[in-house]
Amino acid sequence: MPKNFLWGGATAANQSEGGWQESNRGPAIVDVLPHGQERLRVMLGELDYRDLPDDSYYPAREAIDHFGHYKEDIALFAQMGFKAYRFSISWSRIFPTGEEKEPNQAGLAYYQDFIKELLKYNIEPIVTICHFDMPLNLIDKYGSWKNRQLIDFYLRYCQVLFETFKDQVKYWITFNEINMLMHLPFMGAGLRFEEGENVLESKYQAAHYELVASARATQLAHQINPDFQLGCMLAAGSVYPYSCKPQDVWQALQMDRENYFFIDVQARGAYPNYALKFFEKQGFNLDIREEDLQVLKEHTVDFISLSYYNSRCVRSDGAGEAGGGNVFASAKNPYLEVSEWGWPIDPLGFRITLNNLYDRYQKPLFVVENGLGARDELVDGQIEDDYRINYLAGHIQAMLEAMEEDGVDILGYTAWGCIDLISATTGEMSKRYGMIYVDKADDGSGSLKRIPKKSFYWYRDLIEKNSHI
Ligand code: BG6
Repeated sequence: MPKNFLWGGATAANQSEGGWQESNRGPAIVDVLPHGQERLRVMLGELDYRDLPDDSYYPAREAIDHFGHYKEDIALFAQMGFKAYRFSISWSRIFPTGEEKEPNQAGLAYYQDFIKELLKYNIEPIVTICHFDMPLNLIDKYGSWKNRQLIDFYLRYCQVLFETFKDQVKYWITFNEINMLMHLPFMGAGLRFEEGENVLESKYQAAHYELVASARATQLAHQINPDFQLGCMLAAGSVYPYSCKPQDVWQALQMDRENYFFIDVQARGAYPNYALKFFEKQGFNLDIREEDLQVLKEHTVDFISLSYYNSRCVRSDGAGEAGGGNVFASAKNPYLEVSEWGWPIDPLGFRITLNNLYDRYQKPLFVVENGLGARDELVDGQIEDDYRINYLAGHIQAMLEAMEEDGVDILGYTAWGCIDLISATTGEMSKRYGMIYVDKADDGSGSLKRIPKKSFYWYRDLIEKNSHI
């Protein structure tokens, strides 16, 4: 492996930080995503969080209190030998309502200390600027990304981050899994819909404003420090046709395009023809201006980051069982085992996905999420998570093959939820990804004690060897 390969782990403020009212932080999306049945409807934008019962439980308000434990957590990452740590900044900790002219100094000071702590151990910070997270005020008052004004609010936030961390942070990711906007619009982009609204048109309008915001952030970042590396981020996982029936193959191509659409714009700098035709056929009346197109063209990303949990599968006849996986609808692939949460396990699919992305964009990739959500059992104070080690080993092997055999250029690999955190889709604590166990249950009880799992030592050895097994 290249000597400078960025091995590490990834989390996000919305699922780990907690401290929701510390350091003058303002309320954000994640604070109003409840645990339980209604979570999905809120994430989809179908149920307004203001209509939730008063006794709802919001697990991310405390999460694993990474906010209060970051020194201890970073010390554990350093013990594993992390070269990089991907985390996100909570927008409402910097701008509590999103509208302030000046940043919240207490929030900024927190991240200054946080980043200083990483650098103390020579851990490269990989910063996600917006990970399913924004001030609630921007949603309730402005309608979130359906409103062009969001671009300026976002840029003001970016400017503060870029200037403050000009000499400490090199890698920036503008939006986590930007394509999630299409699938979980409230969680992904703060979108809610009115009765009778053209939901698809609203989503593409919001997508356009996010794409422009991302390109303008890239422009600004490069002005502030030409060495900054800016990345887009895709919830990846190639779509397989269920059979070689041409209709299945066609459907798979269409589904892949729904997700590639975002990266096509961010990496190539223009709307692809298939998207323009789609907008035309749908009769959309989108606010896309000449100056937007110019900025998209001139300020493409430096690298493409991605999450990979599973491949997907589609049958054109819509028949058969549904398959699980990271949010997107998929048909069940009979050739694959699944996790306890029904997500297919497909290491070769990872190699296929990496090759597809690299062939398509020819820009360095960065794997910023991959991992297995599983229940762990604490026996005599220890967790023997061989199932997680097997998952990670298989996927890392596939990634190495993509690099060595296929020549795919990959900057690094940060395993998702390297420390247990709240699941984004279910709000559960029991869906654990970590190499570090956190003593906390789904109902919020627990001491928050950190305990290294067997995978902790396995990953530490892998990083030390800078190779697999
Ligand atoms: C990705 C997200 O979609 O998947 C993470 O970027 C999320 O925020 C991860 O946690 C795993 O999904 P889940 O629902 O198992 O937490």
